[in-house]
Amino acid sequence: MSEPRKLYVRSFGCQMNVYDAQRMTDTLAKEGYVETDTAEDADLVILNTCHIREKAAEKVYSELGRLRKSQEEAGRRQMVAVAGCVAQAEGAEIIKRARTVDLVVGPQSYHKLPELIAQAEQRGHNRRAGIVETEFPVEDKFDFLAHPTRAAIAKRGPTAFVTVQEGCDKFCTFCVVPYTRGAEVSRPLDKILDEVIRLADGGVREVTLIGQNVNAYHGLDVAGRTVGLPELVRRIAEVPGIARVRYTTSHPRDMDDELIAAHRDMPALMPYLHLPVQSGSNRILAAMNRKHDRELFFEIVDKVRAARPDIAFSSDFIVGFPGETDEDFADTMDLVERVGFASAFSFKYSSRPGTPAAGMDGQLPEDVKSARIYALQALLDKQKAAFDAACRGRRFDILLEKPGRFPGQLIGRSPYLQSVVVEAPREAIGRLASVVVREVSTKSLSGDIIGGEFFAGDAGVGVHSVRQSEKVEA
Ligand code: 5AD
Ligand code: SF4
Repeated sequence: MSEPRKLYVRSFGCQMNVYDAQRMTDTLAKEGYVETDTAEDADLVILNTCHIREKAAEKVYSELGRLRKSQEEAGRRQMVAVAGCVAQAEGAEIIKRARTVDLVVGPQSYHKLPELIAQAEQRGHNRRAGIVETEFPVEDKFDFLAHPTRAAIAKRGPTAFVTVQEGCDKFCTFCVVPYTRGAEVSRPLDKILDEVIRLADGGVREVTLIGQNVNAYHGLDVAGRTVGLPELVRRIAEVPGIARVRYTTSHPRDMDDELIAAHRDMPALMPYLHLPVQSGSNRILAAMNRKHDRELFFEIVDKVRAARPDIAFSSDFIVGFPGETDEDFADTMDLVERVGFASAFSFKYSSRPGTPAAGMDGQLPEDVKSARIYALQALLDKQKAAFDAACRGRRFDILLEKPGRFPGQLIGRSPYLQSVVVEAPREAIGRLASVVVREVSTKSLSGDIIGGEFFAGDAGVGVHSVRQSEKVEA
């Protein structure tokens, strides 16, 4: 029998790329590829790329340069594929710029990888004749992708991403997503449920529903009825074994009352909402074509907090958008002060080719962007530290995910996605433990298990059914 071929996939960027990388791996596993941890060791290297900011896109080329060098040093030829959003945006340019690349495949075409690889092999590594596949095909790629085996699911641990929606129709003026991922498309309800049932069967306890605009989800059910995100979440929470559901990323405009009510009514829906606002200035929000103002954002935050008082917010911010004045930036700082975030991502505006903002007047110098991001991140870090510190003494259900740094330790996640270190045996991975937080540091929390599923059937302590977070009475 011939040696199995080795595959190395490296993902950059967002969670959807993590999911896509897994589906590529599953599809190629059926073709006899096994995963390896290093690029040097692989027969096929796939770089699953991100185009959202210039820095992310440039990483691909430095990685390709590194690969070329290591191939030359080892005197070995590997097949190299570039997938993801840079592939979609730059297509054949990639092969012109980096001759190591045999194959360029966009995010809507990666189900064709087996046949594209076969074609590339036939071309006998003629680097001038690389293959480019960046069409938006009529068929649904999900119908052609292989499912992960139970062993693959178990290896990936008790949490999983599931793409439920892709693409975006919002056209924020700074963003490449509507061009790289295309128009909004929602997967049908039964196909998503089928995927979640398989994952749960393989030991998955927590599912994060992902989409560029996930709260705009509107998939069809088997009866041809359109179903929104609240019903999708409810149906997923009913799947035996699934204990927690999350969704990301949302747009404030699509945060409707039914979805807000779901946060009140569904304990499995984690009390943590990532809701990008981008700016606190109405003038900049309008120039960004965000379709919401700061008042609407405050209104949503208030409504969600009224529905689920223990909810915590996270967000995305861009500083230095064209024309942003000191007053506009002060509005962003003020919004952050007023809302209070448990965590956040913030970025300097990066001009992206082909987007409307790239051609706007008032592009700002790097030093202005740097000063603003520094100030914003200092405030966000302070808020995060305060949120974490307030968790000391609280009791949470922690989903135990993986071994910790030291023997006898496991790391789990709180409802707020904080890492929590506890003492527990390996067999407890995949269980919910009831934990009282003892210590808080910048990187993680640590705590003591006081009960939970881990103890079911042991010392007579039953499976927990309380809400996932509560203040422990002294
Ligand atoms: N420059 C900087 N940040 C950007 N984002 C999207 N496009 C840009 C850009 N051109 C950020 C937004 C978005 C997150 C995924 O990336 O904050 O929510
Ligand atoms: Fe990009 Fe705006 Fe769509 Fe988010 S909502 S993916 S920022 S265009």
